[in-house]
Amino acid sequence: MTDKTTGTDGAARTDTPAGEDRPLVELRSAGKSYGNIRALHGVDLTVHPGKVTCVLGDNGAGKSTLIKIVSGLHQHTEGEFLVDGAPVRFSTPREALDKGIATVYQDLAVVPLMPVWRNFFLGSEMTKGPWPLRRLDIERMKKTADEELRNMGIVLDDLEQPIGTLSGGQRQCVAIARAVYFGARVLILDEPTAALGVKQSGVVLKYIALARDRGLGVIFITHNPHHAYMVGDHFNVLRLGTLELSADRSEVSLEELTNHMAGGAELAALKHELAQVRGVDTEGLPEAGDLRAATAATPEGKS
Ligand SMILES: Nc1ncnc2c1ncn2[C@@H]1O[C@H](COP(=O)(O)OP(=O)(O)OP(=O)(O)O)[C@@H](O)[C@H]1O
Ligand SMILES: [Mg+2]
Repeated sequence: MTDKTTGTDGAARTDTPAGEDRPLVELRSAGKSYGNIRALHGVDLTVHPGKVTCVLGDNGAGKSTLIKIVSGLHQHTEGEFLVDGAPVRFSTPREALDKGIATVYQDLAVVPLMPVWRNFFLGSEMTKGPWPLRRLDIERMKKTADEELRNMGIVLDDLEQPIGTLSGGQRQCVAIARAVYFGARVLILDEPTAALGVKQSGVVLKYIALARDRGLGVIFITHNPHHAYMVGDHFNVLRLGTLELSADRSEVSLEELTNHMAGGAELAALKHELAQVRGVDTEGLPEAGDLRAATAATPEGKS
């Protein structure tokens, strides 16, 4: 993105010629088989700081498999996985977290009856006093959670309220703020807007943009091309475990992306058959030819 020519000395630039634009995370021809089921094959993915990389795809396309590799839940069985340019193979999510890769799962790992501030620190509680008298530093946790949420512009009336009483969107926002606070460099969001209405989705998209502006590399998994297009810098569409499309924002329009996601190619192929069915309006479906330009994924400008 913008070149950060900080200060007067160009040391940083000359020292690390490739460093500035080095991806935080990179998959090269990566794949994953579960026994003899090949869930993912030949997938390339790059995540840059300050960019939102979207992963779209239908059910069973391999989205979760992809993020499970990056988040350390599963290991790839093909290709390469690099973090900061070095090959890695995580055996636990903890190892991914130690490298600054944080994942916000759709079924957020929160304890609904516990207060917001307590959930904010869940698993990484602040303590005070020497062992064996160590105890939770409740005051400091409350204060910090309050500050951090405010920093991200998330205003909640009362941090004492059980997190289960927040809306789905608010909970996603708390989870994003939490990941930012705990020093994430890469933030993986698995369908954060899937269960949300229009307004709440908008709020979550705002925080995705905010995390991006703070320099995090965001991987945004979604079914919704409109949501993806609102914040995305790069779009990957998975289909049956392989990349059907990998395009920068400048290379693909929202319409093309929507057609891909709507299963445009399949629907176009089915158009003739669907037209025979009463009550199915195929008027607006794309022709197979409409999609080819985008499928090629080659930056040939407009065609
Ligand atoms: N643990 C597993 N063992 C065997 N097969 C699996 C396993 N996990 C996923 N698969 C298979 O891999 C393929 C990709 O699944 P995955 O969950 O990655 O898709 P997805 O894009 O996340 O789908 P959804 O949108 O439904 O969440 C599917 O065919 C699925 O059945
Ligand atoms: Mg999934």
